[in-house]
Formats: sequence, structure tokens, C-alpha cells
Amino acid sequence: MADAPYQRQLFVCTYGSWCRLDGSDEIRAALKEKTKAAGLDKEIRVTKSGCFGQCGHGPMMVTWPDNVWHSGVTMADVDELFESHVRGGAPVERLRYHAAKPGSNKTPEVKAKEAAAHDKQD
Ligand code: FES
Repeated sequence: MADAPYQRQLFVCTYGSWCRLDGSDEIRAALKEKTKAAGLDKEIRVTKSGCFGQCGHGPMMVTWPDNVWHSGVTMADVDELFESHVRGGAPVERLRYHAAKPGSNKTPEVKAKEAAAHDKQD
């Protein structure tokens, strides 16, 4: 009997404000569909997630248990991502996200937009 209900879990940032603008909902749906079509939905869970604090680099996704982060994922990357990483266990290096520092790494553009929105509220 397995301890974990899934062997692998893909978290796609869909509840964060910024990744959604870059199409994360569509990417999550496509990955979920591919997982199901491959008959892997009992082993692999594709999950909606909130913001990872890396806004502006999106769409962001994290895979567990290997803790591999991919960023800037587009619909054109979904097939490769699925075959290489989800099925094969090999991250797609050109999409691999390497955080500049621990913690939040929002881009300056995102920070500026958030600051401007905050100023409007005052
Ligand atoms: S909105 Fe996706 S990381 Fe923040």
C-alpha cells in the first residue's frame, strides 16, 4: 500500500493574478487532459494552485515530489513538458526556473503595477 495517494503532483499557478494573464488555466487543462488520456490520472494529479510569489515569470508550475519548477510555459510547450518531465522524469531545461534568491521573486514590472494599483486605492 502506498503512503501518498499520487506518485507525482503538478501544481499550476492559476489563482495568482499574473500567471492567469499568461494562460495558465489553459495550460493546466491541457496537462490534465493529457494525463487522463495517457491513463495516468490515478498516479499523477494536475492541481490548480495559488501564487508562488514568482509573478511575472509565469505561467509557473511546480512538480512534486521532485521539486522541479518550470516557468514561462506556453501551450506550445505542453506536449514536450508532458512527455519529457511528466512521463519521463526529465525536466525541460529551457523552461526550468532557477530562483534568483530564496522567497519571493516578483519581476520589477509586476512590483511596479502592484504599487500603482495600491496608490490608486489610497
Ligand atoms: S501569479 Fe503566478 S506566481 Fe504569482
